[in-house]
This record gives sequence, structure tokens and C-alpha cells, in this order.
Amino acid sequence: MNAKAFWGILQTERTFRPIEDWRITSISVGSVSPNVYRLRNGPEDYYVKEINEGERKSLLVLAAIRSKLTPPIIFPDLISRRILVSPYLGPCLRQKAKLELQLFREYARMQNMLNDPGVRENLRRTHGYKWSDKDNGWFSRGYAKGISGCLPWIIRFKQRYKLHELDMWVKAFSFMAGNARLIAREYSGMPFARLHGDFREDNVVGKPQRLADWCSSYERSINGHGPFMSDVGLYLARDERVKRAFIRASNICRKADARTIDRWIWLASCIPLWGKANMLIPDNGRMELSVATVRRFVRKHTWICRVVLSHRGRPVGM
Ligand SMILES: Nc1ncnc2c1ncn2[C@@H]1O[C@H](COP(=O)(O)OP(=O)(O)O)[C@@H](O)[C@H]1O
Ligand SMILES: [Mg+2]
Repeated sequence: MNAKAFWGILQTERTFRPIEDWRITSISVGSVSPNVYRLRNGPEDYYVKEINEGERKSLLVLAAIRSKLTPPIIFPDLISRRILVSPYLGPCLRQKAKLELQLFREYARMQNMLNDPGVRENLRRTHGYKWSDKDNGWFSRGYAKGISGCLPWIIRFKQRYKLHELDMWVKAFSFMAGNARLIAREYSGMPFARLHGDFREDNVVGKPQRLADWCSSYERSINGHGPFMSDVGLYLARDERVKRAFIRASNICRKADARTIDRWIWLASCIPLWGKANMLIPDNGRMELSVATVRRFVRKHTWICRVVLSHRGRPVGM
């Protein structure tokens, strides 16, 4: 929407009239969204964002189940008009900051609620909520192709940059390319649940931590649903405490045995490694990053290659 429409809609809420009383600063931390602002007036301090259709749907559903996973919504009526107003919860986390265990518990609770047949039926009637419990080929086909397409790139990177740090990447991607269809099939066969789609430090704010930015939720999944561990797999692979907290809170995990859970974590670590590789691969085909940049990036994520290459959780036959 254009600026005039945005500010016009916001001012339908009395609090924001006259808008001249408000101190407005633009927020643009890696911003994809067009209108994201902090609005301050005396003690009032708000985060205001123009939301897309996917985020609108997600927020309505999360509000309906009173999920504490997201920052509170201050003016629910504005959501249907594509504007989110939340309390301003301070800047997002620093890269190294640790995610709190409660965040994973709240995430699991959100999935539990939205997988509950009664809750779903209610949401279907009141919000026309649609969901998918199975892959329609979106995950299995797309991911298999994506994973195998990465290997030639990693090899080209090795030839161009000659970094010994890339050896582990070549190994991991050779392995994944050789098993791409199996990985994609197993991954997309995991139980489905509601996803966020962009679960990372950049989208976490406040104390207690809250997960913001639900605009990817519909894009990277089928109606917001997908393999239930895909958002959190890497965090579970990296930290035993997170793993335990999530497993205890997740209804899907509670019904599964330890081996199956390890297999899901393994699968949900393979896919993000492919995502990391994609961040390195240039759109224009030219490898112009400096050696130092590539080295830093590769080193930072090599631990994921180790997870992929380890035997813990790896499905039989791979
Ligand atoms: N309630 C909030 N209070 C303060 N900052 C927030 C809040 N919600 C999100 N943010 C910050 O604003 C940034 C941009 O918002 P986000 O919803 O992630 O938009 P985008 O779609 O542009 O990534 C986020 O990285 C986060 O740091
Ligand atoms: Mg964001």
C-alpha cells in the first residue's frame, strides 16, 4: 500500500490522531516489508508494520488461540486492514544471543494447539482456516532438486577459493546430492504442523523472547504448514537443553521414540544447510565474494556439515 493509505488506515484508530503528535522512526533491519516504524508519544511506544496477506492470516489464527509466541497485538481491528501494532519490544537479538527455552516451549504449544482437531474445526468455521497435513510434492520435489543442484556450486567454490574449510562442505554436499531424493522424501514425510518459516535471531524480540515477522509463514510452506521440525531442527541439533525442552513440550515428539526424533532432527538439519549454501551462491553466477568473507561464512556453518555427516539420526539405507 502507498504511504497515504498506510497512514490513513492507522489514523482510523483514535490513539494515532493527530499523527503529528507522534515521533516516527523507520525500522529497516534487513527489512523486506515496505512500512515498518517505531511510533512514540510520551509513555506509548509502538512497533507498527504493514503486513502481507500471509502474515495477516497467521496473526489472526495466533490471536484466536491466544498464543504467547508472538508479540501482543494492540489493535486487533487493524490486522484485517493489513497493519500490525505491537508494543515496541526493543531491538532484535544480537547474532550470538541465546534463544530462551520458553520460546521453544511456546513454539511447540502453538503447534500442538493448531494440530488439535477441535481447535482446527473451530478455526475452520470462524476463520476459514485451511491446512495441510501432507506434502503435495512441494517439499519433496523442490528440495530434491535444490539439494542436488548445490553440489556443482560447492565444487566450483572449492576450485575458485581453494579453502581447506570447504572440504567438509564438499563432503556434506556430495553425500546429500547422492541421497537427495531420499532426504527430500523422508523430510516431507515427517508429521506436519504450523510453521513460522523464518525462525531466527533476527526475528526474535523482547524479554521474554517473542517470535515476530510471520510474513514468510505462508510462502515457504503449504498454507503455513510443513514438516513440523523445519523451523527448529538446527537449534535442537546444536543444544541438548533446547532439544529436551522442545521434545517435552511437543505433542508430536511425545508420541515418538528417541530414534525417530533423532532422525527428524537430522533431516531438519540437512535442509537448512542447503539454505546456507544458497546464501553463498551468487544470482549472477559470478563468484565475487572475498576469500575472507567466504572463509568466515563457511567456518561459521561447518558444524552443520558435521551434523549432516554424522550417523546420529541418519535414516537406514543412507
Ligand atoms: N514488537 C517489536 N518491537 C520491536 N522491534 C520489533 C518488533 N517486532 C519486530 N521487530 C524488529 O523489527 C525488525 C523488522 O520487523 P519484521 O517483522 O521482521 O519485518 P521484515 O518482514 O521486514 O523482516 C525485526 O528484525 C525485529 O528486530
Ligand atoms: Mg524479519
